[in-house]
Amino acid sequence: MVKAIVLYNSHTGNTEKVAKKIAEGLGVESFDKKNIPDLKDYDLVVLGSWVIMGRISFGGARYLRRIRRKLAGKKVALFFTSAGPDENHWKTENEAPRKIKEIMFESMTKIVNKNQNVTILSERFYCTGVISMFGKVQDKEGHPTDEELELAKAFGEQLKDLL
Ligand SMILES: Cc1cc2nc3c(=O)[nH]c(=O)nc-3n(C[C@H](O)[C@H](O)[C@H](O)COP(=O)(O)O)c2cc1C
Repeated sequence: MVKAIVLYNSHTGNTEKVAKKIAEGLGVESFDKKNIPDLKDYDLVVLGSWVIMGRISFGGARYLRRIRRKLAGKKVALFFTSAGPDENHWKTENEAPRKIKEIMFESMTKIVNKNQNVTILSERFYCTGVISMFGKVQDKEGHPTDEELELAKAFGEQLKDLL
């Protein structure tokens, strides 16, 4: 039987909320980076993280590197949250601006598929998350919205159809 799982790292809870909704849509469990079970029985692994300063969070890059050997031969679907997923980010003044969503999916793919033995699905998901620092909302209050969470659930349902 084909089995799926949702994994994520989350600092202030946005990515966790989205992960849980995707898992609900898929009808499977979600786990944060500290509680990842043995992946050998899973065929589809849904991986999520969040953005800091225009890049994947350090904890996200670390857990993806840690598990990538165990993803060989599996299907992987990617998702993330960020304050401005559709906005541009400038790395240096000389570099052309690129959209956060492009940077993010590219860097997640590079980490996960370093050994080119993983099938990264074209189905992917992202949404806006509130920026909270030191327990205070800084921007994007109310995100992910109920509507965004419903879209996350629909994404999970869409993945279910692929199994
Ligand atoms: C220190 C810090 C830097 C951030 N930098 C960016 C950024 O460069 N671009 C962006 O779109 N979001 C940025 N964010 C917003 C987070 O990506 C967003 O709040 C995300 O949903 C957090 O996920 P979490 O709640 O699962 O930890 C930043 C947040 C923090 C706290």
